[in-house]
Amino acid sequence: MPITTCIFDAYGTLFDVAAAARTAADEPGREAFRAHWPAIAEHWRLKQLQYTWLRAITGDHTDFWTVTQDGLDWALEAEGLSGDADLRERLLQLYWELEAYPEVPAMLHALKSKGMSTAILSNGSPDMLDGAVKSAGIGDVLDDVLSVESVGIFKPHASVYDLVGDRFGCARSEVLFVSSNGWDAAAAAGYGFTTAWVNRAGAPMDRLPATPGHVLTDLTGIPELAR
Ligand code: LAC
Repeated sequence: MPITTCIFDAYGTLFDVAAAARTAADEPGREAFRAHWPAIAEHWRLKQLQYTWLRAITGDHTDFWTVTQDGLDWALEAEGLSGDADLRERLLQLYWELEAYPEVPAMLHALKSKGMSTAILSNGSPDMLDGAVKSAGIGDVLDDVLSVESVGIFKPHASVYDLVGDRFGCARSEVLFVSSNGWDAAAAAGYGFTTAWVNRAGAPMDRLPATPGHVLTDLTGIPELAR
């Protein structure tokens, strides 16, 4: 079946999650943070994701904003920066206005000009996603923003991927699902979506039961894949 619906993961795929720590490190008065920002960005993201998986397994769901703060608190403590309340507040504020990757607006416009349905499917809570979409100025090229909050469990639970068919009434094989998270692309492939893993960092393929159908280095090739 031809692709009719292009669905995007948000954090790390459309929005650069490292931008919060990188931007804070560039600000005046944060010289001491400059040596720490790459480790903070990496640990923050890893812990945030681990907490989503663990909470999905144990049934202790909370929203993505809570696990985002919990992940940051772990990362700050690991780097000996727990006492810097101003830094914590600034990093969390920046998470609401993450930069989109540069190719995102043109890529989404190209999909809409081909008549594709487009949406985000994310762990993010609706208000976080609303903030990110607004700050990136991409609301007019997205038909919807779907959040796990409507099913109360994080990815990669299948009920999250069910939200796409529920919203668009399309078959799984009509969906191109795009994620920079190898585990998310792999789970979506196992679910039956056509999948593209955006592997900007050249990471190894995750060893999971299913494998993404396509591997790209950025999002510029998505409109071609969706033909
Ligand atoms: C999301 C996370 C997994 O946006 O990046 O769902």
